[in-house]
Amino acid sequence: MMNFNEQENEEERVLGRLRQPGDVEEKALRPVTFEEYSGQTKVKTNLKIFIDAARKRGEALDHVLLYGPPGLGKTTLAGIIASEMGVAMHITTGPSIEKAGDLAALLTNLNENEVLFIDEIHRLNKNVEEVLYPAMEDYCLDLMIGKGPAARSVRLDLPHFTLVGATTRAGMISAPLRDRFGMIHRLELYETEDLMEILKRDAGLLGIAINEEGLRNIASRSRGTPRIAIRLLKRMRDFASYLEKDVIDKEVSDYGLKALDIDEVGLDAVDRRVLTAIADIFKGGPVGLETLAACTGEDPVTIEDVYEPFLLQNGFLAKTPRGRVLTIRAFEHIGITPPPSFIAGMRNNDVVPSKFENISIEDWQNANREGGDS
Ligand SMILES: Nc1ncnc2c1ncn2[C@@H]1O[C@H](COP(=O)(O)OP(=O)(O)O)[C@@H](O)[C@H]1O
Ligand SMILES: [Mg+2]
Repeated sequence: MMNFNEQENEEERVLGRLRQPGDVEEKALRPVTFEEYSGQTKVKTNLKIFIDAARKRGEALDHVLLYGPPGLGKTTLAGIIASEMGVAMHITTGPSIEKAGDLAALLTNLNENEVLFIDEIHRLNKNVEEVLYPAMEDYCLDLMIGKGPAARSVRLDLPHFTLVGATTRAGMISAPLRDRFGMIHRLELYETEDLMEILKRDAGLLGIAINEEGLRNIASRSRGTPRIAIRLLKRMRDFASYLEKDVIDKEVSDYGLKALDIDEVGLDAVDRRVLTAIADIFKGGPVGLETLAACTGEDPVTIEDVYEPFLLQNGFLAKTPRGRVLTIRAFEHIGITPPPSFIAGMRNNDVVPSKFENISIEDWQNANREGGDS
């Protein structure tokens, strides 16, 4: 059996969604207007309407919560919200606000209508969160002055501000906090066409020559994630120079993607090993998140945030009440024949595999005769 603990970690993965040291140019590529921000049409349309209305009234925009997997453009969108509102944005992260006083200092420093962006807002601690409630709702701070019986509470007015929160884990935000956001937007994985548009713009800004086929090749193998697409674009520039070509075309991108072990559907070696683990060790599943994490050497959060969204969306993995299961498509992709127990189990799990019709009646009957997992 393979040793899953020896796999490269998230930091080194080309397809990893988290920020890496090579992403330094990211800031320069960050769109600052809605026009430059491709895709996410629904979110954009809504935000534009509310921003317009708030500006007309001269008021602060209602608080906005953005959630979705890493690298989809949450931080970027927060910046766009501030710049379209014509106000400054103050940036902080949930875990860096340690005490209630830290948050109080941040809030009292804001000017009217400005944006406070809290990244990883699900990691705010409870004491801090409680200060945030009246600040969001009534634009005020309740501060305790003094100690013991002499302690008294004073109420401090705050400027009307907009809180933009970002999180990869909407489920980990407490209900009282969630309820105080006027808008909650979920960012979706991008379509290939949208990623091509993003890459075209960024290639222009970086002075990278790339043709239509090159754009499509990279875009379709970037897990629907702009951060990954941009990273691949930069790697492909290196492959072009290695191959002594002055434009990233089909040949260069095919060569480069193969060299990076990214297959035709955009899975990398680690993804394939995760799928193989489920096939080999768990006969296709169902397997619980914790168990899967333990035997792939990844932490559950990374599996849920980074691997799963793409595998689920593309029909390699399905969620059932009993855990994650592979689909027939996944078995086909990694070239393993689904065990009869798996095919029998599909009926119990109520999973509709992507290529359901390819299973013969005999397979079903055999599977059922042999019974469940052995
Ligand atoms: N819709 C988009 N249009 C153009 N570029 C985008 C878009 N979304 C993300 N990007 C690019 O991808 C990079 C990562 O986005 P970021 O906002 O940091 O993601 P997140 O905060 O969700 O992890 C940014 O540097 C930006 O250049
Ligand atoms: Mg971010």
